[in-house]
Amino acid sequence: MTAKIFIKPIRTENIESFHQALDKVARERKYLAFLQSPPLEEVREFVLSNIEQGNPHLIASIEGEVVGWCDIRRHHLQSHAHRGTLGIGIVPEFRGNGLGTRLIELAIECATETGFSRIEFDVRADNFRAIALYEKTGFVKEGVLRNAVLVDGEFFDVVVMALVLQSD
Ligand SMILES: CC(C)(COP(=O)(O)OP(=O)(O)OC[C@H]1O[C@@H](n2cnc3c(N)ncnc32)[C@H](O)[C@@H]1OP(=O)(O)O)[C@@H](O)C(=O)NCCC(=O)NCCS
Repeated sequence: MTAKIFIKPIRTENIESFHQALDKVARERKYLAFLQSPPLEEVREFVLSNIEQGNPHLIASIEGEVVGWCDIRRHHLQSHAHRGTLGIGIVPEFRGNGLGTRLIELAIECATETGFSRIEFDVRADNFRAIALYEKTGFVKEGVLRNAVLVDGEFFDVVVMALVLQSD
């Protein structure tokens, strides 16, 4: 029987496993802004501040191991505090099965409930799967930052995307 994947808010006991998943995706050197995870203590601070501030920070876990995440971090400036920066990743073995869709849809729901009115990020222009996921869930391309990423001697454009949440 295949073990079930649970999606739930991150807790302190998940931090080490989250750090490992983050490091695994970062080391692919294709998707995230960092090429390896920040040190565990920095990641711990990031998670604890998300928990403390009530920022959406979901994990997908299977038998206690984090295999994916989606977080939305509130902007620190007062006049920008309606904005959140989204980060998402799934370890390679669990991609392409709808997990990203489940994570992002739930994170958007949490962000709406906690009063965000804009969710934003940038994504490498050659990350077609991520862009397909974002467009499917309502995000819109707002512009392109040309040659914004340089990895292993190669430049990549980056697309700025955002979702403006309706407040009625
Ligand atoms: C981007 C990512 C989060 C998407 O999650 P996922 O679980 O793989 O995606 P899903 O299975 O939910 O598919 C979402 C959409 O992507 C598209 N898609 C899926 N597989 C694809 C593929 N191999 N190539 C292109 N598009 C694809 C489809 O449009 C799909 O929607 P549909 O199934 O309704 O048609 C995940 O692949 C990932 O972690 N990638 C590496 C890290 C990353 O890129 N993070 C984002 C940085 S900005």
